[in-house]
Amino acid sequence: MANLMQHTDILNFLQNTPLEKLREEASKVLEKNKGRHVFVRGLIEFSNRCKRNCRYCGLRTQNKSLERYCLSHEEILSAAQNAVREGADTIVLQSGEGAVKAGWLAEIVSEIHRRLKVPITLCVGEASAKDYLLWRDAGASRYLLKHETSNPALYASLHPGYELAGRIEHLKLLRSLGYELGGGFMLGLPGQSLESLACDIALVRDLHTDMCGAGPFIPQRNTPLGHERGGGVELSLRVISALRFALPWANLPATTALASIDPAFGQINGLKHGANVLMPSFTPEASSSAYQIYDKKNRVRMAEARKAIELAGRSHSLP
Ligand code: 5AD
Ligand code: SF4
Repeated sequence: MANLMQHTDILNFLQNTPLEKLREEASKVLEKNKGRHVFVRGLIEFSNRCKRNCRYCGLRTQNKSLERYCLSHEEILSAAQNAVREGADTIVLQSGEGAVKAGWLAEIVSEIHRRLKVPITLCVGEASAKDYLLWRDAGASRYLLKHETSNPALYASLHPGYELAGRIEHLKLLRSLGYELGGGFMLGLPGQSLESLACDIALVRDLHTDMCGAGPFIPQRNTPLGHERGGGVELSLRVISALRFALPWANLPATTALASIDPAFGQINGLKHGANVLMPSFTPEASSSAYQIYDKKNRVRMAEARKAIELAGRSHSLP
């Protein structure tokens, strides 16, 4: 019954509660639990190679129109130095799944850890327990792995050859290996109901993820879902607020996807509706344009992040 109530509450946040009220309440819960500080993560998209075929994603292996790249260790280190110099508190290394050899990634993790002494987050998809351990021992302390959707049938149809249960096992394995866990999902997926979104929120709450990134699905023209409709701005903000109520302890980013469907106000409004993390990109310009997960991807730079934090009336520790 208690769970049923919570599900109804979450549903109400997603569809009935006035947005204005969500903003006010989410800001209060945020300030009480996390304060006014906004964390700035330096994102480095070091390779757009991917072995998987998620039907929504422009990096899927069957997308042959994408030119693939992989940054060198030197390029990654230099981007990381740049990010830390500009005030990023964490380095996030992101790529498609199976993009590089595990040992190669461990070497650069270790180098960044040794030289820059900032927490390192990996967002490189599913791997073996052996590789998770290798990377953890090299110095990665956080792992971002979104469950994408909690609807088992939708999950299976979007991820040919994979099942939701397996995804959740990976999240639990990562936690058991000592990683801080970042979860997340997309909203506005074709065939996704509000009930299913409420289950997404309940799932990350039950997994007790330390971080949760939830952003709108945005169609990418070279994918099977290229002609579908994407998620909207209002629903994105509603989901952030609902997450803030359900996971008051968590760090919640205003996602790049939100900044892409609303370049002028996405980041600011995300912060105003309960988010406390921004993830500006430090991927070198030439490669960044090839990280085409979805169309019209916005590149959030440090200057924009700083401006959004200031306009949202919040604090940061950027130089
Ligand atoms: N729209 C929005 N987000 C997407 N992602 C992948 N494809 C899309 C898309 N079309 C997100 C997924 C994934 C991350 C790499 O990017 O949530 O976890
Ligand atoms: Fe690869 Fe991730 Fe895109 Fe799926 S969502 S195709 S795993 S980059």
